[in-house]
Amino acid sequence: MGRVQGKVAIVTGGARGIGRATAKMLAAEGARVAITDVDEEAGRETAASVDEAGHEAAFLEHDVASEADWERVVAEVQGTFGAPDILVNNAGIYRITPIEEETVEDWRQLMDVNVTGVFLGMKHCTPLMREQGTGSVINVSSVAGLVGVAGHACYGASKGAVRTMTKDAAIELAEAGVRVNSIHPAYIDTQMADYGAEAQDASKEELEAMHPIGHMGEPDDVAYAVMYLASDESKFMTGSELVLDGGFTAQ
Ligand SMILES: NC(=O)c1ccc[n+]([C@@H]2O[C@H](COP(=O)([O-])OP(=O)(O)OC[C@H]3O[C@@H](n4cnc5c(N)ncnc54)[C@H](O)[C@@H]3O)[C@@H](O)[C@H]2O)c1
Repeated sequence: MGRVQGKVAIVTGGARGIGRATAKMLAAEGARVAITDVDEEAGRETAASVDEAGHEAAFLEHDVASEADWERVVAEVQGTFGAPDILVNNAGIYRITPIEEETVEDWRQLMDVNVTGVFLGMKHCTPLMREQGTGSVINVSSVAGLVGVAGHACYGASKGAVRTMTKDAAIELAEAGVRVNSIHPAYIDTQMADYGAEAQDASKEELEAMHPIGHMGEPDDVAYAVMYLASDESKFMTGSELVLDGGFTAQ
């Protein structure tokens, strides 16, 4: 019996990185997983790799910033797998820019994906969870949603919004049996961390050294935390922040 046996999960941004590791782990533990992403090729490849491992997943093309896309995706997931029990709002974009160089256009685009995307996911999935009287939403924030980092005003604002929105939703939905928690990773070894090194003119070793533990995290480090929050093992946990940062914020 898997840790999320029989549950239906939606993982946004599931084509690669943290989302891919999370989708694979949830499927291996018995969930039927809808992998959604703007990257169709990588998303189909991830769904196929889950299938080859003998588990259940489907890919759906999805821009999380689009409400019409959310309506279509949630209806398709319901039709294929049933109402979602688990929503992992993982899709996100990262940019490091000094405040004076940030454009309003770029600011809005990042907010559309990182904040509006999370809001829309909860708006369209939690009514179905409420009807079932159960559900777990996991919002992927960042250590940048907890502490300040130079060049991170836009990204940090988006992840701070996710952190607080998670708590608001947790209170609103607690009596309905729907739990909402946020996850706060430091650097995790994905394409996003590669960008982080490049944008800060840092080597991979310098990025690793930012973490007291001496290295970055791996996508599976986050997937294990999502698994715990998705499963009934965390049934008393809502409105919480799970920090996975190799000691970054303990400094
Ligand atoms: N990697 C890190 O160091 C790190 C640290 C803290 C938080 N995070 C957060 O973890 C999440 C996943 O990051 P990752 O490291 O796997 O990044 P990644 O860039 O490797 O993967 C992100 C995925 O999201 C998808 N995506 C982007 N915009 C989208 C949109 N509008 N709609 C749907 N999908 C979209 C991309 O196509 C990609 O598959 C993000 O929310 C990120 O902010 C990452």
